[in-house]
Amino acid sequence: MKSPMQQGVIKSALQRRPAASDIAIIEMPRPDCPEGGVVVKLSALSLDPYVGTRLRGKHMGEPAPVPMRDAIPAHGVGQISASRISAFREGDWVHTTEAGWRDYAALPAESVRKIDVAGMDPAVHLGILGMPGLTAWAAIAKRAQVRAGNIVLIDAAAGAVGGTAGQIARALDAARIVGIAGGERKCRVVTDVYRFDACIDYTGEGWRDSLAAALPQGLDVHLENVSVDLLVLALSHMRPYGRAVLCGLAGQYHTDMPAAGIPAGLIIGKRASLMGLVIYDFYDRWAEFTEFAAPLVRSGDLVIAEDSVTGWADAPALFERMLAGQHIGKAMVRL
Ligand SMILES: NC(=O)c1ccc[n+]([C@@H]2O[C@H](COP(=O)([O-])OP(=O)(O)OC[C@H]3O[C@@H](n4cnc5c(N)ncnc54)[C@H](OP(=O)(O)O)[C@@H]3O)[C@@H](O)[C@H]2O)c1
Repeated sequence: MKSPMQQGVIKSALQRRPAASDIAIIEMPRPDCPEGGVVVKLSALSLDPYVGTRLRGKHMGEPAPVPMRDAIPAHGVGQISASRISAFREGDWVHTTEAGWRDYAALPAESVRKIDVAGMDPAVHLGILGMPGLTAWAAIAKRAQVRAGNIVLIDAAAGAVGGTAGQIARALDAARIVGIAGGERKCRVVTDVYRFDACIDYTGEGWRDSLAAALPQGLDVHLENVSVDLLVLALSHMRPYGRAVLCGLAGQYHTDMPAAGIPAGLIIGKRASLMGLVIYDFYDRWAEFTEFAAPLVRSGDLVIAEDSVTGWADAPALFERMLAGQHIGKAMVRL
């Protein structure tokens, strides 16, 4: 009889934002090591907004809902516990985009990437050095090409992408970095931990005026993570020839309300460039990104708050909070 492991699955098909009660943690036999592949003993799993739409079959590029008995998708870090390929040895630390909610994952060698955990918590490879960090770097350094003197605005600024993006803009010598976030606690993290120059709490009275006051000279670069409404507001503060990167619409993923239109006249008048970003296009540049970011992590110049639980019991509740945007920083489950 094989040893058991636990796996998180969805109980039934979903037509709305997933909730904790939609998830069951079930027992399964541990997987065998596949020919030419490995088994990873997972030590931390990332909780990300895209999984909410992925489970409902509404994620761009992967339109089918996740089959009911399959592990809920998640990126993960862990150690090789069995290998049938010489490139990986037992005990190697790896990151995989295919981890899923389970204790052990049997994977083809192409799905795992060795990570250097020297001097850092391996779980950093789920946040700053993981997919959210790669996304922030792709948006700020590669798509918007932030340069010295730029004024940068970022929403969902307390989150893993937004928080990392602001710190990367700082490393690229941006002149001023302003965040937008939902709530005083989030804003305190944005200014005190991530060292943005200002953060506007959009749950407060008169926040649009506060935003205008925080951007007296306008902005050159905007990173949109939340909604078309915020994008339009950012465009209104943009200086001529500014750039906006459309990264996510977390505020709209689970609503059936049609998104507001983008005002073409404003874009023309601002001579603005609007750029979409899909992180899959940057998966082959993880080494280049890590070379840039890992020294900043080790020196303490790149940090992200963590909102985590340990063990399966509390994972569904954190997943629900994360999808509602109630977490701060990188949401993850430690196993
Ligand atoms: N394009 C890509 O390839 C790519 C890759 C990775 C991530 N993304 C996107 O980048 C964005 C940030 O990702 P992240 O992982 O760092 O997430 P996150 O910022 O930790 O979470 C999303 C944030 O969106 C805000 N939000 C506003 N209204 C919301 C609502 N109705 N429901 C849920 N959240 C709401 C919340 O922040 P406030 O309370 O501060 O508003 C929430 O914390 C997301 O839109 C994500 O989907 C895109």
